[in-house]
Amino acid sequence: MRPPFLVNYIKSMYMNPCHFDDARRGFLKKSVSLAALYLTPSILVKTFAADAIVPTPIAKEKLQFILNGKPVALEIDARTTMLNLLREHIGYTGTKKGCEMGQCGACTIHVNGKRLKSCTQLALNHQNNKITTIEGLANGDQLHPMQAAFLKHDAFQCGYCTSGQIMSAVACVREGNAKTRASIQAYMDTNICRCGAYQNIVDAIEEVAKSGAKI
Ligand code: FES
Ligand code: FES
Repeated sequence: MRPPFLVNYIKSMYMNPCHFDDARRGFLKKSVSLAALYLTPSILVKTFAADAIVPTPIAKEKLQFILNGKPVALEIDARTTMLNLLREHIGYTGTKKGCEMGQCGACTIHVNGKRLKSCTQLALNHQNNKITTIEGLANGDQLHPMQAAFLKHDAFQCGYCTSGQIMSAVACVREGNAKTRASIQAYMDTNICRCGAYQNIVDAIEEVAKSGAKI
């Protein structure tokens, strides 16, 4: 049996042929609209409803730690990474944001003396820890020996990876991983330099390690 709207449409064709085009257009419009509604993924339809929902604000959490030798206390969204906390809340932009996936090493800092990629760390997991960033390495106007060695050996070009490289390089020497060029290369392979300053970086680390400077 034919649906009623189709019967009406056919009747109108015969009874009022001069309106054939109008009726046909109307029929096609209705059919296309119904088909479009039927075929629209339910996820899109639901999006409109979800847009109307106002999310409840996330409660702030208290955090305190030592940053470059000074106590810091603040309240943050629990989802904040250590990298974003340093750069966007505290304004320490020496720690760089590269991949934000733990792959490039641009965001390397020290936590309780060990190197760590700050983009992979929730800040709240570092309650009472000692954090050191590139801003905390120099002693006033006096560069840290590793910073001086990077300058001397021209161990950078654009400089974007350099703070992460230096933080890793200091950890490399402190942890006794700078005994040979091969061991330096192996330790530093978590820090990417798109400018390819790798040989000069190894030169700088090797020199600091051989100097016996207390870093
Ligand atoms: S930004 Fe953290 S590893 Fe790349
Ligand atoms: S100096 Fe440019 S990325 Fe390393």
